[in-house]
Amino acid sequence: RIVYLNGDFLPFAEARVPIMDRGFLFADGIYEVSAVLDGRLVDNEAHLARLDRSLGEIDIANPHTIPEWIGLQTELVARNGLTEGLVYMQVTRGVYERDFAYPPAGTAPTVMMFTQAKTVAANPLAETGARIITVPDLRWKRRDIKSVALLAQVLAKQQAAAAGVAEAWMVEDDAVTEGSSSTAFIVTKGGALVTRPLSTALLPGITRKAVLRLAEEAGLALEERLFSVSEALEAAEAFYTSASAFVMPVVAIDGHVIGEGHPGAHTRRLRELYLDMAR
Ligand code: PDD
Repeated sequence: RIVYLNGDFLPFAEARVPIMDRGFLFADGIYEVSAVLDGRLVDNEAHLARLDRSLGEIDIANPHTIPEWIGLQTELVARNGLTEGLVYMQVTRGVYERDFAYPPAGTAPTVMMFTQAKTVAANPLAETGARIITVPDLRWKRRDIKSVALLAQVLAKQQAAAAGVAEAWMVEDDAVTEGSSSTAFIVTKGGALVTRPLSTALLPGITRKAVLRLAEEAGLALEERLFSVSEALEAAEAFYTSASAFVMPVVAIDGHVIGEGHPGAHTRRLRELYLDMAR
């Protein structure tokens, strides 16, 4: 496997980062994940725009223009012969003697990318639907920034793994904020698509935005508002979205069956529309 590190394409084992990297010491960095389908990056410019925005929010100068990023990603995908999977991009504030405040201006950021081969389109879980659990949202207050500080999400995903399910939805003040690595949606019995409005409380999902656009074009009723776990349990359908899961049906929450216990019609339609768009 070939990875990218600070200007070089290297064999995985040769790509090394010093222990004083601020990503390692402080999780002082930003990341992005774009899907690759049929060898092409999916909705990638929106991911690169969010990367730029996240970097700006923590005062790291974007080391590359959007065309430069696309050039690097495309070369990495080609060098790895990747047809389906993910490209992971990370930028940290660089390497400097440990000190909480920023290092001197001019300290070079650490820029890293790798690919992961993964079945994102013909995912068998999308056929059966995923079971999920709910957990308290333990995160900080700037979840709109795609920070590499993911400890609360690691703990949430591990609780899901220990429960033998695919995802954990995080809950705060009786409302679902989002999944540990995805955006949460429900479909009401009246057929309306419900997802939480954007704020600093959640990540502005790129897949969320695409799905809302596709749903609107398909004439579905949209409601951007908070919803509780009890409302989700009573919903006709539920699903979550992300660059790696696309549109993933949810068939059980905390052991309660959702709808008929299999992927709902609206969810299946939105997954199809998303796959059509991605291709
Ligand atoms: N996670 N919410 C959180 C907390 C996320 O980590 C993610 C993505 C999403 C969905 O965003 P998008 O549709 O832009 O992928 C929402 C990525 C896939 C990850 O961490 O691997």
